[in-house]
Amino acid sequence: MSEILHEGNLFHLRNRHISYVLYLVPGGIPAHIYFGARLESIRPEPLLRHMGVSADENFSIQGCALDRLSQEYPSFGLGDMREGALSAVGKDGTDAVDLRFVSASEENGKPTLEGLPATFGTDCRTLRLTLRDAHTGLKAELLYTIFDDLDVIARSARLTNDGSSTMWLTKALSLCLDLPDSNWELITLNGAWARERSIYRRALMPGEQGTGSRNGASSLQTSPFIALVRPGTNEDQGEAIGTSLVYSGNFTASVFVNQYGGARLLAGINDRCFRWHLDPGDGFQTPEAVLVYSTSGLGDMSRTFHTLWQQNLLPQRWAHKPRPVLLNSWEAAYFSFDEEKLLSIAKAAADAGVDLFVLDDGWFGHRDDDTTSLGDWHSDLKKLPGGIRRLGERVRALGIQFGIWMEPEMISPESDLYRTHPDWCIHIDGRESVTSRNQLTLDLSRQDVRDFICDAVAETLQESGAVYLKWDMNRNFSNIGSALLPPEYQAELPHRYMLGLYEVMERLTCKFPDVLIEGCASGGGRFDPGLLYYVPQFWCSDNTDALCRCQIQYGTSLVIPPSAMGSHVSAVPNHQTGRVTPMETRFAVALSGCFGYELDPTKLTNEEREALRGQVAVAKQTQTLRLDGRFYRLRSPFEGNETAWMTVSQDQSQAVFTAVRSLAQPNFGPPLIRLRGLDPRRCYRIVETGEIFGGDELMESGLLCPFPRGDAASLLYTIEALKA
Ligand code: DGJ
Repeated sequence: MSEILHEGNLFHLRNRHISYVLYLVPGGIPAHIYFGARLESIRPEPLLRHMGVSADENFSIQGCALDRLSQEYPSFGLGDMREGALSAVGKDGTDAVDLRFVSASEENGKPTLEGLPATFGTDCRTLRLTLRDAHTGLKAELLYTIFDDLDVIARSARLTNDGSSTMWLTKALSLCLDLPDSNWELITLNGAWARERSIYRRALMPGEQGTGSRNGASSLQTSPFIALVRPGTNEDQGEAIGTSLVYSGNFTASVFVNQYGGARLLAGINDRCFRWHLDPGDGFQTPEAVLVYSTSGLGDMSRTFHTLWQQNLLPQRWAHKPRPVLLNSWEAAYFSFDEEKLLSIAKAAADAGVDLFVLDDGWFGHRDDDTTSLGDWHSDLKKLPGGIRRLGERVRALGIQFGIWMEPEMISPESDLYRTHPDWCIHIDGRESVTSRNQLTLDLSRQDVRDFICDAVAETLQESGAVYLKWDMNRNFSNIGSALLPPEYQAELPHRYMLGLYEVMERLTCKFPDVLIEGCASGGGRFDPGLLYYVPQFWCSDNTDALCRCQIQYGTSLVIPPSAMGSHVSAVPNHQTGRVTPMETRFAVALSGCFGYELDPTKLTNEEREALRGQVAVAKQTQTLRLDGRFYRLRSPFEGNETAWMTVSQDQSQAVFTAVRSLAQPNFGPPLIRLRGLDPRRCYRIVETGEIFGGDELMESGLLCPFPRGDAASLLYTIEALKA
């Protein structure tokens, strides 16, 4: 159970494992006192003295260096030299904000955040702290939610102009966490197209460090996640604080180490390209930031994120529902197909036991390459004489379901839509528009554009009878301007876009609750908790090479559960790297996520097609375990020649173990890999070898892994507990 203890000026949120404590220093500034392992009680005085403040004296800004005070929601410009969480330009043109305590209240559960995705649940308690700046009248309501059974604090802020004149928010972050020391290492996820989310870890240094995106999406280059870990923290032990934003647009996640050695963690909307206009009475809601705390290492931190997203964020009708094994046409056919070719692929997929055939890009307008037609969502009758309606019917007649690809947020300059509505894209009047992949971004801040998208998607789904939609998004923002926004509102566009996207997602998922939507953004370019609120799975990367996928999926798993990662077996030589890897390894790696295929099965040998049938059967047998199980990383591809991970059922009776060795190396014995998450008192059978081991033996001594010969070799074991 969670509880909020309120005694005098002290607020103590805690559950069985963690405590979060804040204190109102005299004058009403909320100071941060503690975040960490559960405490029975805490005296704020020593921590305040550590910050150079006495809780007893009559606190004044002059009497206490704000620069040393750990604060809950600080602003730059009043003596604190660190970066702040909030700034707002008022009528006098200055931008400092001095928030002082007004009131506090508590509630069971967790309020929704207007217009934004956020975690939900009744298994939690929320503290609402109301603060106000007397100079401008800016009011802040800080929400703190603590969960009963998860070591999580969720935070957000609602800002309201409670004054009498207009003001502009120029920074409105979701989270500030001031830590008393900086003996931490910072972990970020960074990468690029086809190599998303590599893990980077380095010691904190004085000054500012971190990550962020200004691309208009959480991006391929990074992820709205950072972790602080003590030196020596590994998968199984050590202190870790992870933070993740439930947001899909521009963000910042940074740590500032100041002159006193304290570390300030900040996360929220990136203030580049952000200025929000607030007339008296207007409000602004920040996205939610989630803090996870663990003393049991990175593995435990990740499992807390995974469980939180699974139980308290993902659309619940999908969270525990086995997903169809699908075959996607992209790498099988690209833009070059006709109805018969697609049907022959779908037929071979159906023969292998695949549940769903997905028609990717190229089915609409005159889309023979990526230069045209985005926005013209009507079938290309040259390729599909009966349109997507007849194709859908003929696919279903084969005994499998039909799914379809769209890129609804985009417009090709070479399209009827653009010719009719040249002002519907993001652009700056009078400037030449910069295209990327020959396309422009629709302006989702506009209601007419959002209505168009909802109608186009609805018509496509209805016409084709698709039960699955791959929602792609393949470029970042440029020429950031909207035809409808007045000049003083233009800097609101990036966030208004996200609000528009979330509105569209909300409308479509309500209208089509049974359609499974898989997110995609040139691969994993918007694979974040904000989108996971609407779509239960996301195409993890355009890179389908099994060895590259070991890194991409391992890095992604720091914050996202593998059960949400679209991962497919593709053909060799791999289309992204040219590498040839064994079919078994491609299968083992793809099986760790939302499993499917990205190849033309008609081009496989009979033997390979037979193998497909076996793979699909294994994927279906292990579906529930992989969806609901607990994920353990065992060997990091960033640290050596091997990758290993396993998923263990909640009751510890079953597990799937995957290990990959990148390069064959002569004259070494097979590695011993220590398993995790099993019951040490039970005995387990490795189904594929028939061997029986104690759970303790597998976890302490390790499992011998005799990889087959050759590069990119793998082992895939299903493990079952023996009946007692
Ligand atoms: C980018 C996606 O990541 C690919 O999977 C594919 O759908 C292409 N777009 C289609 O244009």
